[in-house]
Amino acid sequence: MNRILDFYREHGISPVHQDISDFSHHCARREKLYRQLGMPTVLFRKADVLEVGTGGGYNAATLAQWGCNLSMVEPNETAQNEIMELFRERKIEEYVLCKETIERHNGKAYDIVIAEGFLPTIENRIEVLDKLKSLVKESGVLVITCQDEMGMFVERMKRLAGHMAVQKIPLYQDKVAKLVKMFEPQLKFCHGMSRPAEDWVQDQLLCEDFNCEDVLNLEKAIRSMDDKWDVLGCSSPCFFSDYSWYKDVGYDYKKSYCEQYVRKSYNLIIAGREEIDTSNIDVSAVRKSVEKIRELEIAYENLKHKEEKYIHEIICELQKLYERLKVDDKELAAFLRETMEVLTCEPDRLDLNEYPNFCKCFGRSQQYISFVKKRNY
Ligand SMILES: C[S@@+](CC[C@H](N)C(=O)[O-])C[C@H]1O[C@@H](n2cnc3c(N)ncnc32)[C@H](O)[C@@H]1O
Repeated sequence: MNRILDFYREHGISPVHQDISDFSHHCARREKLYRQLGMPTVLFRKADVLEVGTGGGYNAATLAQWGCNLSMVEPNETAQNEIMELFRERKIEEYVLCKETIERHNGKAYDIVIAEGFLPTIENRIEVLDKLKSLVKESGVLVITCQDEMGMFVERMKRLAGHMAVQKIPLYQDKVAKLVKMFEPQLKFCHGMSRPAEDWVQDQLLCEDFNCEDVLNLEKAIRSMDDKWDVLGCSSPCFFSDYSWYKDVGYDYKKSYCEQYVRKSYNLIIAGREEIDTSNIDVSAVRKSVEKIRELEIAYENLKHKEEKYIHEIICELQKLYERLKVDDKELAAFLRETMEVLTCEPDRLDLNEYPNFCKCFGRSQQYISFVKKRNY
């Protein structure tokens, strides 16, 4: 089962548009991403590059700009049409578009393979990850994205407020319209946001992959790469430190980064701030609470006839989290306090503008990681 693809196809959408009215700025954003992944743009020049799950082609257009031999794999028909239209507009003529899933794709190996925005939440991700690995040449690079419930927590609370607000609206388009009205004003607080509100609402608040059982986080991704692979870089945030001497060629990056992840993943919870001192925070207890809230939220969403008891239980958990964090993380505590108020408010009377801390918070809901397929010396 592939909930993203099924959802996009069911509604005839590809809700991953980017504002590229200033294309140079768009390229600069992508350049910064790849810089953090250890991949300066010169690496793309004349390289064989495969982008899997291209969406509307906004990111692929920058790869073409950097002079690579571009191939794409995209199974969603709406996205395929958008790619062809965008590339026509931008006069990009040299490219290969394979209209299929990556599972069905049989092709040559590439210098760089990129799979952004779908791997963490698809159910056959082990099969897909194996396929992606097999498509990378020796000393080539694989880029994937990861997610973590810590980074999804703030969005999950917005998602819950959204589902409470649209529970009595039967039609999908009407739900989207109501949610856009509710959430669009606050997206301006998400620094660097380049997606339309309508896409954000459909992808973050309504798409069902958000609730998949076992999400691929950075630690699991690193552990799933065998000895042939090493970590190259990481973004959103670029939070691993590397104190190894360059002559220590046997240094175990994977072990070090997995250890760091356990502590540092707390920093995913709110976007846009510097590293938080977690010495007084019981990160594993916070993670447990966040996961419990996740289970309750999913149970609430899945109910045909909504039951208030789930909301009460979520509020109890939020209260415990608030007590735990009110001294050491005041920003998150303020978000938690207002979230409890939002969830208590009668949905028809809810005006999110009255909750500035709820509105201005966003989580780091997606991380990027690059792996290099080691060269045999
Ligand atoms: C959330 S969108 C991300 C689009 C784009 N990569 C981005 O980051 O803006 C996920 C994309 O992956 C595609 N996708 C989902 N499952 C796939 C699969 N098994 N093989 C190839 N593409 C897939 C979807 O059709 C969709 O276009």
